[in-house]
Amino acid sequence: MTTRRRILVTSALPYANGAIHLGHMLEHVQTDIFVRFQRLQGHECIYVCADDVHGTAVMLNAQAAGQTPLDYAAEITKAHIQDFQSFQISHDCYETTHSKDNEQLSAEIYSRLLASGNIEKAAVEQLFDTEKGLFLADRFVVGGCPACKTPEQYGDNCDACGATYAATDLIDPRSKLSGSKPELRTSEHIFFALSKHTEFLKNWTQSGALHPAVTNKLSEWLDTGLQNWDISRDAPYFGFEIPGEPGKYFYVWLDAPIGYIASFKRYCASHDLDYEDYWRADSDCEVHHFIGKDIVNFHALFWPAMLTAANLRPPTKVTVHGFLTINGEKMSKSKGTFINARTYLDQLSPEYLRYYFAAKLNPSVADLDLNLEDFVQKVNADLVGKVANIASRCAGFINKQFGGVINASTGTPLIGHFQSAANEIAALYEAREFSKAMRVIMGLADQANQFIAEEQPWQLIKNPETRDRAEAVCADGLNLFRLLTLYLKPVLPGLAERAEAFLAIEPLAWADHNTQLKGHTIAAFQPLIQRIELAQVQAMIEIEQAQGQPAQSGEVAPPPEEDTIDIAAFAQVDLRVARIVAAQAVVGADKLLALTLDVGDHQRNVFSGIKSAYQPEELIGKLTVLVANLAPRKMKFGISEGMILAAGPGGADIFLISPDSGATPGMKVS
Ligand code: MSP
Ligand code: ZN
Repeated sequence: MTTRRRILVTSALPYANGAIHLGHMLEHVQTDIFVRFQRLQGHECIYVCADDVHGTAVMLNAQAAGQTPLDYAAEITKAHIQDFQSFQISHDCYETTHSKDNEQLSAEIYSRLLASGNIEKAAVEQLFDTEKGLFLADRFVVGGCPACKTPEQYGDNCDACGATYAATDLIDPRSKLSGSKPELRTSEHIFFALSKHTEFLKNWTQSGALHPAVTNKLSEWLDTGLQNWDISRDAPYFGFEIPGEPGKYFYVWLDAPIGYIASFKRYCASHDLDYEDYWRADSDCEVHHFIGKDIVNFHALFWPAMLTAANLRPPTKVTVHGFLTINGEKMSKSKGTFINARTYLDQLSPEYLRYYFAAKLNPSVADLDLNLEDFVQKVNADLVGKVANIASRCAGFINKQFGGVINASTGTPLIGHFQSAANEIAALYEAREFSKAMRVIMGLADQANQFIAEEQPWQLIKNPETRDRAEAVCADGLNLFRLLTLYLKPVLPGLAERAEAFLAIEPLAWADHNTQLKGHTIAAFQPLIQRIELAQVQAMIEIEQAQGQPAQSGEVAPPPEEDTIDIAAFAQVDLRVARIVAAQAVVGADKLLALTLDVGDHQRNVFSGIKSAYQPEELIGKLTVLVANLAPRKMKFGISEGMILAAGPGGADIFLISPDSGATPGMKVS
């Protein structure tokens, strides 16, 4: 038995100034797979995150919304947490950087930097917006590029020629906030003496904490020499005031990474752990950060230098991913490819995207493309066609023909082969080589399907002499399926849970790859995953596109609503008697039942939110009333062709509207 590692894992803290989009989600899925894998291995693995609420952007957005920065951020944080939960991201703690813990830790680390001679002061010339009364960050100034003269460029670099410069070099600078011409003002700033840590960083960046490509990139900067880092901003600024420096605030990037420690400290306080175990200079615990390529210098230069200067430990590993593109292009609002996590979730199950990301992720910094057609094709082929197929092929026979018991085996070497793949797959997860891990697992799934296809249990079962063989093949099939479920569990915790339910087994842990089911009774089969339809993906893009467009100007306001409608309005609603002929729960939907309705001359499929009040079985045969001419609606799980009527406030109190006996399907209700 290997020793139990103690691992703290983080994803970068999303800014509290916008919704979580699929780019953020790529990072959290990557992190979550790593975390869930470590937990399955039996290690202590704690995953924390937080919203990054400080800085000018949040302050100004809040102002524009007429809210305090705290109120503004709190609403956004709430939505972020819901989005992550819906995507099955297993944060142990999700904080905000504006916490007491973070304020104290930031002050403590600053005082250590001060005491160890790592803080310096220098005058800084900056553009000041006299109308708004604040110093302008680079992104809040526009003007002509000093190199190529292209107008309307930001204060840090030019989109046209790529030149980088100081905002003070812009030709005819203008404040983006007020439009006024800013004034050059000088103020004293506080610096972290980063340049003193060049030698340390040269070593640390070569220590194996980073992917070689990241090390190479950083060594370019390290070789040209590091500048000291400006860690203060003048009021007004939303952040923590620097102790002993009235009117000066910590730059958001100073306290944001300290937010990792603060969020973890908060978790430890309620879990009988000591956060310092993980952070003291000689800690033997591990700290892993997952970040995007745009914030490497903060995590692989400033942060490790600051930590060691404050006599704390640097990170064990910083994993850097590339950017998510959609159909090969940068996400764009107008093309509808800037997809918010919630828009995705309204149409599709998170499992599809978790799998797709896993199938493409590796430890490199390369960008990752979500090609929507490939997405549909790959998920359907792999998860539905390969993995779930094994279970559905075998479970039916075991349940209906062999008393639901897994007992026999053909003695196929495949089982041993699957079991011994566990080490290779584990090593790939550990190395964050998820795409390779998925390839190995799908290769196994192919072998299992091939085994079943060659044995043809559906033929074997017809002949009394080969019936035993059919049983053994299906039992083997389910054992192979169980191992695939385990190997996919870090990526697909929901699918694993449904599989564990129908296999009637305890939650699988990694060590369970050594065992197999024998003399074991399974439960009723549950559908594991549904196919994705391209229409669902198209609906998602259309919705995002509509939201990305500015509201139409000159739109006519709707007429005032009246309290009554005339008979003609009522007659527009086509109500019909319908009989429920089939009803079943919808995988992945808490409230919905999928109903098949007999409407006289044809059948309809309708999704209805009555699951909290009815068992599917008790509905079958019942009469109800259908709104027959309601436009079909694309939902996450398929198309709903109408709506049935029910009364009541919800929960257990939903009452299906049912006509008196004697009514027949298809009759008009008027
Ligand atoms: N608040 C800082 C991080 C502070 S960490 C101490 C920040 N926030 S962010 O919201 O802009 O980005 C959060 C993470 O999402 C970053 O790691 C960033 O690289 C990642 N991504 C943002 N857009 C992305 C894509 N389009 N694709 C992949 N990751 C992207 O930076
Ligand atoms: Zn230029």
